[in-house]
Amino acid sequence: MKNYSVRMIRENMENIPQFPVPKGFAIRNYRPGEGHIWTRIQRAAEPYINIDDGLFFREFKRDLLAMEDRSFFLTTDAGEEIGTITAWWQPDMDGKNWGQIHWVAIHPDYQGRGLSKPMMSVAMTRLKRSHKRCFLDTSTVRIPAIKRYLDFGFTPDFSRENNSREAWTEVASVLEHPVLAQLESQKLL
Ligand SMILES: CC(C)(COP(=O)(O)OP(=O)(O)OC[C@H]1O[C@@H](n2cnc3c(N)ncnc32)[C@H](O)[C@@H]1OP(=O)(O)O)[C@@H](O)C(=O)NCCC(=O)NCCS
Repeated sequence: MKNYSVRMIRENMENIPQFPVPKGFAIRNYRPGEGHIWTRIQRAAEPYINIDDGLFFREFKRDLLAMEDRSFFLTTDAGEEIGTITAWWQPDMDGKNWGQIHWVAIHPDYQGRGLSKPMMSVAMTRLKRSHKRCFLDTSTVRIPAIKRYLDFGFTPDFSRENNSREAWTEVASVLEHPVLAQLESQKLL
């Protein structure tokens, strides 16, 4: 499968699905100096991109203080961090302020249990406090992530990337989802 970069958008922050954190897990905010924990989780989870030690700083240096308020770790009851999600933002994208779901990852030992659902609920609820709309960047081979983002009301942004229709047609060939079926019925795919 070709790996296209794609953007997904959510034009409002209404009706954010709320999933409780299941028993045995917790979600807590990032604390100062925990970039190495973020890096450890990303490195374990990320199949496509090299996660080097400087990535955390490069990604979040614009406002490291904001991480304490906007970045979250999923932990086990024993306190081990096994997932990360950040409710980031872009203050001026095409003249508008956009919330951004950024760098979602769960350690492979804990994938496949739907744990990204409560993580998304927490991060989207945080975005809602500060933003009227939100977006995220991902790529078409990341089917579990795309499935989850579609469930949370994100839709393909056809306006920006080249090949976006080809990209989403490829996703629809391997992922059944009501949002994609609707786009197909509207002849958008
Ligand atoms: C994205 C990520 C956090 C999701 O973790 P997760 O919550 O454990 O994901 P799941 O395995 O439960 O899969 C999510 C959904 O996709 C579905 N899914 C997974 N693989 C699928 C496939 N090949 N085809 C169709 N659906 C699939 C699952 O059934 C699940 O849906 P459901 O809960 O409604 O049944 C995790 O896959 C990860 O860390 N990936 C590596 C990093 C990454 O790609 N991050 C996203 C960056 S944009």
